[in-house]
Amino acid sequence: MAQVVRFDRYGDVDVLDVVEAPDPVAGPGQVVVQVVAAGINPGEGKIRSGLLHEVFPATFPSGQGSDLAGRVVGIGEGVSGVAVGDEVLGFTNERASHATHVVVPVEQVAPKPAGLSWDVAGSLFVAGTTAFAAVRSVRPEAGDTIVVSGAAGGVGSLVVQLLRARDVTVIGIAGTGNHEWLRSLGVTPVTYGDGLADRIRATAPDGVDAFIDLYGPDYVELAIELGVQPDRIDTIADFAAVAKYGVKAEGNGAADTIDVVSELADQVVAGKLEVPVAAVYPLADVRAAFTELEHGHTHGKIVLHP
Ligand SMILES: NC(=O)c1ccc[n+]([C@@H]2O[C@H](COP(=O)([O-])OP(=O)(O)OC[C@H]3O[C@@H](n4cnc5c(N)ncnc54)[C@H](OP(=O)(O)O)[C@@H]3O)[C@@H](O)[C@H]2O)c1
Repeated sequence: MAQVVRFDRYGDVDVLDVVEAPDPVAGPGQVVVQVVAAGINPGEGKIRSGLLHEVFPATFPSGQGSDLAGRVVGIGEGVSGVAVGDEVLGFTNERASHATHVVVPVEQVAPKPAGLSWDVAGSLFVAGTTAFAAVRSVRPEAGDTIVVSGAAGGVGSLVVQLLRARDVTVIGIAGTGNHEWLRSLGVTPVTYGDGLADRIRATAPDGVDAFIDLYGPDYVELAIELGVQPDRIDTIADFAAVAKYGVKAEGNGAADTIDVVSELADQVVAGKLEVPVAAVYPLADVRAAFTELEHGHTHGKIVLHP
C-alpha cells in the first residue's frame, strides 16, 4: 500500500492525515514514481484552509502536493525513454505528490541530474517555475534596479539569484535574519515595516525600474508609489492589485513546464543557483512541516521525505 497525505475538510494543519491507499498503477503515457523528496508550498496550505476556495476549490477527500523527485517504479503503455529505476524530478497537477507513490504523465518528469540533491530536485517545481515566470515578466536588463519583496523565501531566494545573474541591482525586502545571506549574493537587503519606502529611496536614489512582489498586501501600492510602471510590476500574491493597477500576475502557471524545471536543475548543478533547504520532515510529520511553513518566515524550501 502507498502512504498519502489526505484531508477531508477545509481547516488548519490538524485536518491533514497520512493514510494508506492502493499502490497506484500507471495508465497509458504515465509513470509511477516512488517519491524520495517533495517540496511543500504556501499555496497548498491556502487550498487546505479554504482560503482559495473561489479560485482553486478542493474536492474531498483531497490529496496535496505538486513538487516531486523520486525513482520510477512503474511504466504505462506507450511510454518510451524512461525505465524502471530511473531517477527523475518533476511535478503533478493532481495534488498528489505528498505521498510515497504518485502517478504522473511521462512528459511531467525529467532525469534528475546526478549532482543534484534529492531535496533540491524535489523542491524545484512550484518555486522554480514561479521565480522564472516572475523574473521574465518584468523584462530585466543589465543595469536595472529591481526590488523584490519576500526576497529570501522559497520563491524569492530564486528570484534574487536569477536577477543577479542578469547584472541587475537587486534590493531584497526581508527580515534581518536573512540580510547576511542576501548580501552574500550581492543583493542589498532592506527590512520591511514602517519607513520602508524611504529606505528603498535611500538605497536607490536614481529610482526603481521594476518590482517583483512575492508577499502581498501593500507592496504593489508601494511599487506604484516608487514610480514603477505597472507593466514592470509583477505580483504572485495580491490579485486585487492586478485588477486595480493593471500590474502583472505571472507565476507558476506562466512557466509550469518540465523544460523550465530541468533548466533550473542544470543551473543548480553548474553552481549558478542555490536552493536553500530550510528543513526536512518525514511524511508522517506533514502537519509540523506546514506549521513551520505557515509561520511565514521560511528561508528557502521545506521538504517532505515520504
Ligand atoms: N501565484 C503563484 O503562481 C504563486 C506561486 C508560488 C507562491 N505563491 C505565493 O507567493 C508567496 C510566497 O511564496 P513562497 O513559497 O516564497 O513563501 P515562503 O517560502 O513561505 O516565504 C515567505 C517569505 O515572506 C517573507 N516575509 C514575511 N513577512 C514579510 C513582510 N511583511 N514583508 C515582506 N516579506 C515578508 C519571509 O521573509 P523573512 O523570513 O525575511 O521574514 C519569507 O521568506 C505566498 O503567498 C505563496 O502562496 C504564488
